[in-house]
Amino acid sequence: MQDSILDFLRKKDEYVSGEEMSEHLNVSRQALWKHIQALKDSGYDIEGVPHLGYRLKGSPDRLFPAEISHHLHTKFIGKKIYYFDTLPTTMDVASELGVKGCPNGTLVVAEFQTKGKGRLGREWFSPKHKGIYASLILRPELAPNSAPLLTLVCAVSICEAIKEATGLDARIKWPNDILIHNKKLGGILTELNAETDRTNFVVIGFGLNINNDKRSLLAGATSIKEQLRDEASRAGLLKKILLTTEENYLYLADHGPALILEKWRAGNITLGRRVRISSRHRILEGEAIDIDSDGTLLLRSDSGIVQKILSGDVVHCR
Ligand code: BTN
Repeated sequence: MQDSILDFLRKKDEYVSGEEMSEHLNVSRQALWKHIQALKDSGYDIEGVPHLGYRLKGSPDRLFPAEISHHLHTKFIGKKIYYFDTLPTTMDVASELGVKGCPNGTLVVAEFQTKGKGRLGREWFSPKHKGIYASLILRPELAPNSAPLLTLVCAVSICEAIKEATGLDARIKWPNDILIHNKKLGGILTELNAETDRTNFVVIGFGLNINNDKRSLLAGATSIKEQLRDEASRAGLLKKILLTTEENYLYLADHGPALILEKWRAGNITLGRRVRISSRHRILEGEAIDIDSDGTLLLRSDSGIVQKILSGDVVHCR
């Protein structure tokens, strides 16, 4: 009901009488009043003027489904949203939903994560109401070994959305760090649920520092607020990310990976550099020469051997 009230208020740029709203939404005046109080408690600025009615003056910077869904022009991504104030991690909830058969494109968001997961077993710092912490469940027609392509789709889409929403030039450090001016703005964590030759679903988790103050950021990190010297709308940016992700995902499904790889090559800062890659078992050094059509990195060692690298921690040597 609260979503319907918001929709109704948003459609009219003027006062709407309580009578009109309760008739239209088929709810008693008293129940309407209670819902409006609840919306105000959630941070909506709703003005009530006797004899005139109600008017929506402002919305809070929260990732409420109603905020994300409003003017979200996607076909399937974000059509179903699970919202949490606090969670250990959105990854585990998304994975459970995936196992239970949730629709393709289901999104899980949290305002705060107590055990945010980063890559390689690290923790992802997820302060309340400051960032975007989201996990997207996708059911692609892709073989499990091509799943890294979806991480590239997400990285490219996040950079496009940031550019569109803020004008900032975000770049990709292989495999999935989002950087601005060489400082980490965000990262992507992809978890795969698959059988030998069949992908059941993929959970793509992305975390972005948005309205974090400079002094509260971890070393080497940045936020949109630090870069813009101004706050940004988290819901607005998330909507753009969902749209660009859907566009790139559908393009990949229909036309193959060529364009995604081209966009990734244009937006990355790893290729052409000497890199050191540490994984659980080994450390490799060489030149990052290209990205392969399955999303793996091609590394040429000093002896000239080219290896395909699936994952690891990358340091740019020069
Ligand atoms: C990285 O290490 O760079 C990847 C970070 C991924 C963080 C996001 S935040 C939303 C989702 N939930 C998590 O616990 N992790 C991912």
